[in-house]
Amino acid sequence: MDYEHILTETPAPGVGLIRFNRPKALNALNSKVIQETFDAMLAFDRDSSIGAIVLTGSDKAFAAGADIKEMVERNYVEMMTGDQLTDWSAFNKVSKPVIAAVSGFALGGGCEIAMACDMIVASETAVFGQPEILLGILPGAGGTQRLIRAVGKATAMEIILTDRRLSAQEALQYGLVNRVTAPEEYLNEAIKLAQKVAGLSQVAVRLAKDAVNRAYELPLQEGINYEKRNFYLAFGTEDKKEGMTAFVEKRPAQWKHK
Ligand code: CAA
Repeated sequence: MDYEHILTETPAPGVGLIRFNRPKALNALNSKVIQETFDAMLAFDRDSSIGAIVLTGSDKAFAAGADIKEMVERNYVEMMTGDQLTDWSAFNKVSKPVIAAVSGFALGGGCEIAMACDMIVASETAVFGQPEILLGILPGAGGTQRLIRAVGKATAMEIILTDRRLSAQEALQYGLVNRVTAPEEYLNEAIKLAQKVAGLSQVAVRLAKDAVNRAYELPLQEGINYEKRNFYLAFGTEDKKEGMTAFVEKRPAQWKHK
């Protein structure tokens, strides 16, 4: 499929890669980028040969936020009736793990998209922030909700109210990112991580991702009940039988993703 503002490829078996490709605008996320990204993501999600998805930008910018030039003339009614941010929530529909490979700026909507991914691999050059307050607005694609869970209230407030930016190392200390690599390694590392997940039972990974994400939505006991249901569901799969039999027979499992 031909896209205007993103590139897609399969850099390793089982791994789908989506790259924001508006280098002159530091990958500012206009409506077309968002729409294409989610179309590509859902296409990889439907593709049974793909087990995990990597989302990346350029070395200079993962993404510098929503496209300010697209929004500059928009008023409240246009934003509301156009429901500009609806497409951004398509992430919730992706059942396979999505790994953000972040280098350079991950600001505003760029930071929000990275946080909406399941894991983040960051280059030493990565900078995370929510500078919307400088534009007279606030984060609108999950920043106020996801950041607080990742870094705690005090730091989230400082980032959102004062445009404090986090370096890759700070983001690692807060647990916002999984690992930090040398600048030339972040994408390879993300692809390796994706390959690792893609080499497992897709059906088990899907149930596990779903259960972890429920922790955001549910009170503890309901979350534990939800997890238990997914756990029992796994016992209805051929992969559970294969995984346990392979362990007992001391051999690698041959996943059928069923
Ligand atoms: N929207 C539109 N264009 C953008 C952009 C954005 N978010 N970020 C950068 N660009 C464009 C610049 O306008 C510039 O284009 P021109 O060459 O045509 O002037 C080009 O990208 C390069 O940018 P700079 O010259 O500014 O590059 P720099 O290296 O000096 O600075 C930067 C980089 C610090 C990221 C700076 O570009 C910047 O502050 N960008 C805006 C960041 C921001 O405010 N993001 C939040 C957006 S609102 C949002 O995301 C809402 C939401 O929650 C959904």
